[in-house]
Amino acid sequence: MDKIVIEGGSRLQGEVEVGGAKNAALPLMLAALLTDEPCRLTKVPGVADIDTAGKLLAGLGASIERRPGGEVLIDCSSVDQWEAPYDLVRKMRASFVALGPLLARFGRARVSWPGGCAIGSRPVDIHLSALARLGAKIEQRHGYVEADARQLKGGHVIFEKPSVGATENLLMAACLAKGSTRLENAAREPEIVDLAEALAKMGAHIEGAGSSIIEIEGVERLAAMDHEVVSDRIVAATYLVAAAITGGDVVVRGARPEHLQSPLEVLTAMGATIETPTLPTGSAGPGRAGALRLVMAQQPRPLQIGTAPYPGFPTDLQAQFMALACFADGDSTIEESIFENRFMHVQELARMGAEISLVGHRATVRGAKLLSGAPVMATDLRASVSLVLAGLAARGRTEVLRVYHLDRGYESIEQKLSCLGADIRRERD
Ligand code: UD1
Repeated sequence: MDKIVIEGGSRLQGEVEVGGAKNAALPLMLAALLTDEPCRLTKVPGVADIDTAGKLLAGLGASIERRPGGEVLIDCSSVDQWEAPYDLVRKMRASFVALGPLLARFGRARVSWPGGCAIGSRPVDIHLSALARLGAKIEQRHGYVEADARQLKGGHVIFEKPSVGATENLLMAACLAKGSTRLENAAREPEIVDLAEALAKMGAHIEGAGSSIIEIEGVERLAAMDHEVVSDRIVAATYLVAAAITGGDVVVRGARPEHLQSPLEVLTAMGATIETPTLPTGSAGPGRAGALRLVMAQQPRPLQIGTAPYPGFPTDLQAQFMALACFADGDSTIEESIFENRFMHVQELARMGAEISLVGHRATVRGAKLLSGAPVMATDLRASVSLVLAGLAARGRTEVLRVYHLDRGYESIEQKLSCLGADIRRERD
């Protein structure tokens, strides 16, 4: 198994490029199931979760070709299976989003029950009750969700909570349902908007994506799609935190500032200077992406954050900002209200000397600590990157074990940080 070894203390400086968001690319790949015409995605990140989605599609009978540079060609004309097996869903919960498109196009689906995961119980009740509103018959047998619907019918769904995965499942299912569907209390994440844009290119009729009410008018069939994946706001913000935690000066190319309003406000309040530099034409990466420059010329001020659905502060950045809070000149408070067990990094940061007290969903981080490098264990994707960030600013050597968590969502992170001046390498454990 690989580990990441970091000698802390280097100030990061330079430019780094972020690619497409894996959390957008995954449902987009599954959206290809909705048509028998070929689909082409670009800016798909080279991360392990994308390999898992590829395996899932191939297992269903799709042909999938990955080309260098993030191009993925998917042809679902020969899909003849309807099952997302336990092995893949266990590895990657996002596989559960195959349920909606399979049901919509083939009238049936068998998807493994996801079960718990490192950051909490993460139920799927909202997905299932909403699909039932569109006429799906759903049963749980032998650890699988079995869903049947000869013809989905449009319906009125009021989500109990804004769930990203449930909104994606319903959005895809409703595109091929008969009649109109109204989704209320829908998730508003940029990845949902990206999915809706791609579905519209396939011929879907969708209004309101990005707001909490989405209306979909079902169509009989969907066609080919060619789509560039929206840039990864979580990876972009992770590099901004890397700059802030090392007192650095970094330009993140490919970032979409409008998707990062809440984290940028926090970074600014902590004392960072953030600009949107004008880059020479062609240098900001393809498509609609821009750039962000962060300079941190002082010790960070403490932060107060509470995670919330978009446009609130993302739970996927909570661990990274906690690492940063350890170096602030005062005590910070962090409330996690999306996932009940998303503080697994606290124990590992404590091994590096951090003082963090936990009461229920609230963490208090004692600032002004000088962390010292230590061997630490990654427990999930974002927790693992928070340990890398802490290691960049700690004194001495940090070894982050169980790097496969990191590889699920960060492409070439050690090369990118190394180009910014970090002393970081990957080693076989
Ligand atoms: C997605 C993201 C993940 C991010 C999360 C929240 C992907 C692949 N993953 O996960 O990185 O951390 O959004 O922004 O895009 N819930 C229920 N019942 C359900 C579904 C969800 O109670 O049926 C709860 C969850 O336990 C959680 C909240 O709703 O408390 C939000 O979860 P959800 O938005 O569904 O997360 P995911 O789509 O799994």
